[in-house]
Amino acid sequence: MRITFHFKNSPTDLWLKDLRAALPEADISEWHPGAEQADYAIVWQPPQQLLDEQGAQLKAIFNLGAGVDALLKLQWPNHLPLVRIDDGGMAVQMAEYVSHALIRHFRELDVYESQQRVAGEWKPHRTKLRSDFPVGVMGLGVLGERVARTVAQFDFPVNGWSRSPKQIDGVQCFHGEAQGFKNFLAATRVLVNLLPLTPDTANIINSETLSQLQPGAYVINVARGAHLVEEDLLAQIARGHVAGATLDVFRTEPLPPEHAFWKHPKITITPHSSANTMREESVAQIARKLMAFDQGEKVAGLVDMSRGY
Ligand code: NAP
Ligand code: GLV
Repeated sequence: MRITFHFKNSPTDLWLKDLRAALPEADISEWHPGAEQADYAIVWQPPQQLLDEQGAQLKAIFNLGAGVDALLKLQWPNHLPLVRIDDGGMAVQMAEYVSHALIRHFRELDVYESQQRVAGEWKPHRTKLRSDFPVGVMGLGVLGERVARTVAQFDFPVNGWSRSPKQIDGVQCFHGEAQGFKNFLAATRVLVNLLPLTPDTANIINSETLSQLQPGAYVINVARGAHLVEEDLLAQIARGHVAGATLDVFRTEPLPPEHAFWKHPKITITPHSSANTMREESVAQIARKLMAFDQGEKVAGLVDMSRGY
C-alpha cells in the first residue's frame, strides 16, 4: 500500500517517522508535484494539485484535523471518501481553553490583571452569580459536547445547540433552525462556537444572532473565522450589548497587523491554537482507521459530503 502525506506549513519528519512505525507494511512518503500515485492520502490543507494528480485513483483521504472546510473548498472527486480526526487530543484542549476564557471573563481576571499592571490598584469586585452567566455551546459534536460537559462541572447553566436532538446530562439541549436556535440564543449569555464551517453555518454569529443573546453577552469563537461577521461583533460591543470576546480563529489568518481586534480592549485573541492535533493520538487513530477502511470496515469520522462535516 502506498500513502502520500502532506502537512501545510509544518515540519513533517516526525509525522512520517511515526506513521511509518504505525503502518510498517505501507510505503509512506511526502507528496510533491508529480509524485507516484498513492492508494491513500493523509493531509492537512493540501493544494488542489494533489487532488488533481492523485484524487481519481485514491481510495480515501484522511484529514489531519477535525475541520474539513479547507478540503471541501477544493474540487473534490465525487467518489472519494474523506475521514476526519475524532478528538485526536483536541477535546481536552478545547475544554481547557473555553473554561479559561469563560472563567477569566466571569471572575474578571482580565480586569484584575489590568488593575495590577496599569494602575497598581487594590480593588476587589462584587461576586457575580453563575446563574446570570448561562453558557451556550453551538455544535455538540466531538469537541462541543466535551466543552459543554466541562463547563457544566463549574456549575454554570449550560445550553447546547445542534442539528439533531441530543440528550447530555447537565446540558439543556436545543436543536434545529428557526425556533430551536432562537430559544437557544435567548437562553444564552456566553456564546461558544464549535460548529463546523458549512454553507449553513457561515456568518452565523452576526448582528441578528448577537442581539438575541442576553445583555452583557460574551463570545468565544474557537471554530472558524468565517462563522463570525467581525464588523457586527465590533458594533455590538460598541453598543454595549456584547461585553467582549475571546477569539482563536479569524477570517484572515494570520490576523493582519492593522486589524481592529489586535488593540481592542475587550477582545482577546490567540493565533488559532485553542486545540492542536496531537501527533501520537492522531497517528494511532489514522493507522487504525486506515487499516479498517482498507479491510472494507466502517470507520468513524467519515465525512458526509452533503452536510459538509
Ligand atoms: P463534529 O463532531 O462534526 O460536530 C459538529 C457539531 O455541529 C454537531 O453537533 C452538529 O450537529 C453541529 N452542527 C453542524 N451543522 C449544524 C447546523 N447547521 N445547525 C446546528 N448544528 C449544527 O465537529 P467537532 O470535531 O466537534 O469540531 C467542530 C469544529 O471545531 C471543526 O469543524 C473545526 O472547524 C473546529 N476546530 C477548531 C480548532 C481550533 O484550533 N480552533 C481545532 C479543532 C476543531 P449534529 O450532531 O446534529 O450533526
Ligand atoms: C483545526 O482547526 C482543526 O479543524 O482540527
